[in-house]
Amino acid sequence: MFDVKNIKKDFPIFKKHENDEKPLIYLDNAATTFKPQAVIDACSKYYIEDGANAHRGDYDLAYHVDKEVEKCRAHLASFLNCFSREIVFTSGTSMSMNLVAYGYGVKYLKEGDEILLTEAEHASNVLPWFKVSELTKAKINYIPLDEDGRCTPEALKKVITKNTKVVSIAQVTNVLGFKIDIKEMAKITHEYGAILVCDAAQSAPHMKIDVKDLDCDFLCLSAHKMLGPTGIGALYGKFDLLKKMDPFMMGGGDNARFDMCGNVAYLEPPAKFEAGTMNISAIYGFDAALTYLENIGLENIEKHEKELRNYAISKLKELDNVIIYNEKADAGIITLNVKGVFPQDEASYLNSKGICVRSGEHCAKLLKDRLKTVGTIRVSFYLYNDKDDIDALCNALKNGGNFLDAFFN
Ligand code: ALA
Repeated sequence: MFDVKNIKKDFPIFKKHENDEKPLIYLDNAATTFKPQAVIDACSKYYIEDGANAHRGDYDLAYHVDKEVEKCRAHLASFLNCFSREIVFTSGTSMSMNLVAYGYGVKYLKEGDEILLTEAEHASNVLPWFKVSELTKAKINYIPLDEDGRCTPEALKKVITKNTKVVSIAQVTNVLGFKIDIKEMAKITHEYGAILVCDAAQSAPHMKIDVKDLDCDFLCLSAHKMLGPTGIGALYGKFDLLKKMDPFMMGGGDNARFDMCGNVAYLEPPAKFEAGTMNISAIYGFDAALTYLENIGLENIEKHEKELRNYAISKLKELDNVIIYNEKADAGIITLNVKGVFPQDEASYLNSKGICVRSGEHCAKLLKDRLKTVGTIRVSFYLYNDKDDIDALCNALKNGGNFLDAFFN
């Protein structure tokens, strides 16, 4: 049994705000998630107990930090079912995407090649490819979404060609919340000799991922959306691909030697891509976040969110003044508007009731033609949300259009 009340006790932010004038109803988990005490403690442990840099020192403290960093890498590898050497620490999904775009795309793509995206992608899975296109003259095309907004393998089959070199798609899109069949998409992509890059920012926190089963070539994620600290994330890459990629940042820790003629011998992946001092305390926290998620169980989290989604959709459909844009989606992301009310105004109104949601375009700026609106309200759930949060949201939305002066349509 999924016990939200007990889970909430693990998150000090709820205690901190329990006597505030308004409640804290946090429904912006697709933007970032709150942190359990275990994660905060793990981050502090680095500063209080360990303190040294990683992969540089020849003394006990430094050696201990090395082991902790590699422990987290091994943990994430087991979480995703891959080898430790296939996990590169980055600052998050955006950096991971940029690393693939610069390290692989710029190196291997050329004029006449094609990159396939969808119009539902987040900026971090669009703009790095725009840069690859600008630098290599490779062309960007879009896999059409079906009428609900889902990207299907059938749609990929219609647009993929022998010129396609990269297919880069989110496993769960950050506004529409559809779960994409990455395994089937990867199979089709490989039949054409291209690689599949998976943006897992919105999926890794909410469902079990097995990269070997999916057979994706790269997968990008952020710890802060999965109860971990900000400023840390990872790129999974098949080792042979990582080996042939160029680093996108160069500096200390990524090389074995270099000389005055400009010759450099880079280390093997992942060290080759981890120049500079990493966010070590965040790596300690990331490890603790993975443990926390595993203890609850990703399957249980996914089931809980599905129940919340179904409940929320049924309640929202009772409201005549609410437009839902992704009723048929899979994930705990619901995108909506209150008729005639500008989304930022609605979000401010919800804030007055203690309800935190995101409004606007949510970094998915190619979607506005499809949604036919200047912006939306996005509600996104996680393991500490319950039906009371949804009831509070629906009660507020009922009156959401009453007092506002900014209209659209
Ligand atoms: N990528 C995050 C979001 O969708 C910030 O809100």
